Amino acid sequence: MTSDAKSLYGAADVRYVAAYQPEASPARMQVALAIADTAWRPLDRERLTVLDIGCGRGVTACLLAAANPGWDVIGLDLQPVHIAEAREVAAEAGLANARFIEADVTELDEDRATRVLPEIDVVICYGVWTWVPDNVRDGIVRLLRHRLKPGGIAFFGYNAMPAWGDTLLLQRVLDEAARGVVGSETARANAALDVLEKLRDAGARYLPTKTVLDQIIAKGRKAPAYMVHEWLTSFWRPAYHADLAKALVGARMEYGGCARPATSMPALQLDDAQQAMLAEAPAGFDRETLNDMFLARRFRTDIFVRGRQAGGWRMLPEIRLALAAAPDEVKLEIPTAQGEATLPDAQVAALVGALAEGPKRIGDLARLPECADLSPLDLAVMLVESGVANPVWRDAPDDAATKQRLLACNKALLRHFGTEATAISAPLGAAVPMLGTALPLSASDLSVVTALQDGVPPDPARIAAHLMGPDEGPQEMARAEEGIARVMRRHMPAWRAMGLV
Ligand SMILES: C[S@@+](CC[C@H](N)C(=O)[O-])C[C@H]1O[C@@H](n2cnc3c(N)ncnc32)[C@H](O)[C@@H]1O
Repeated sequence: MTSDAKSLYGAADVRYVAAYQPEASPARMQVALAIADTAWRPLDRERLTVLDIGCGRGVTACLLAAANPGWDVIGLDLQPVHIAEAREVAAEAGLANARFIEADVTELDEDRATRVLPEIDVVICYGVWTWVPDNVRDGIVRLLRHRLKPGGIAFFGYNAMPAWGDTLLLQRVLDEAARGVVGSETARANAALDVLEKLRDAGARYLPTKTVLDQIIAKGRKAPAYMVHEWLTSFWRPAYHADLAKALVGARMEYGGCARPATSMPALQLDDAQQAMLAEAPAGFDRETLNDMFLARRFRTDIFVRGRQAGGWRMLPEIRLALAAAPDEVKLEIPTAQGEATLPDAQVAALVGALAEGPKRIGDLARLPECADLSPLDLAVMLVESGVANPVWRDAPDDAATKQRLLACNKALLRHFGTEATAISAPLGAAVPMLGTALPLSASDLSVVTALQDGVPPDPARIAAHLMGPDEGPQEMARAEEGIARVMRRHMPAWRAMGLV
């Protein structure tokens, strides 16, 4: 049986954008769940089995495998070109614990799924659910039902309603404009963008604002792959949280929490009247969907649990945090709809001072005299969501084999994706075993880390020539040099403390 998706994705030989998704990381998910009072304690955190459904070109899967050599990381995707490339990167990086399976989820019934996949602890499904037809959605739910362990978790990144309401017409226009065009995917993407530009200039009434249209046009002209996968599919349909939650009941799963908790916390994001409305919502009303009516978020990252247990807040004091930047560069701020949320200077100084000594348990930070009025929950939200600190998964290993593995992975990522990621500003990342995940980094920052791991001073001319081509002018070179100096000043102490360089 061939799914409708195969005719879409199979025919399109356009590879998806290669990018690292930092939230799709079990270590980050554990903290996000704990903030939502959901307890997720894997039986053995050194032996997780992770499945990335619709893994694309395998960047996230390879980085998770590199950071966690004891894990079994499996990427599954319909497109042969994605799987072939992901296998090449994993082989070049020497990642024996990353494997990639070419399969259509619609064809994985219980028998076949059991033959090709082990029982899974964590499923990642990023950028798939709202771009595929019903039979693919059913296939994903079936896979979760048959292969996710009881207590296992699944991460979904998807286009969320109602914020996309203003773009339903836009997607239809793009899809229809490209449908009749014979030729390459780039030609189809450009034809769609030509029509969009004309509609923008003529002032079509039901399209999004000019600013949004300009962003889409600029991104689409740079990266036809973005246009093809993001917009030129007849199956594009953003989803309400309530509907995804309802579908996942079929896998006996329930909502565990938002992977970016601060983006949806009513106390941070809603005004008093909105909070009151949420508190008084009728019993049957999905609170998350109601919340989304107030928040301007087009993309949700949700974690679902197969058998949710409360008790996450009790776990928070035990979670260790490590400083993510140089102490004098730290900015403890969370953007909210009501302005920037921050802490008084004395508290920031006390917290940063304590973390500068090395990783600290949240419970110990809460006992600092300056932080007497802050709970472990406040600290977890403020420190992790502001990016000031990263959750620690294990002590930093300090052996030659680990260093070799990290270096090989970074080199393979740069060789395959460096130039492309630079051209379209897609994030790559460097695996950090101490964090059990990767740090998101631009290709140029990753080049700096890689040079340092290789024991050579980062050379701006070489990095710029590799990522941007050999003929960069003096201005670009000066900018590259400045960028390298800035990133080293800001991150070097934290990179060292994490055992990255
Ligand atoms: C928008 S891309 C996202 C890729 C990746 N998760 C990321 O974030 O970079 C969607 C991916 O889902 C895959 N896909 C679509 N339908 C599928 C199916 N029926 N079975 C397996 N993979 C599928 C596509 O091939 C594509 O790589």
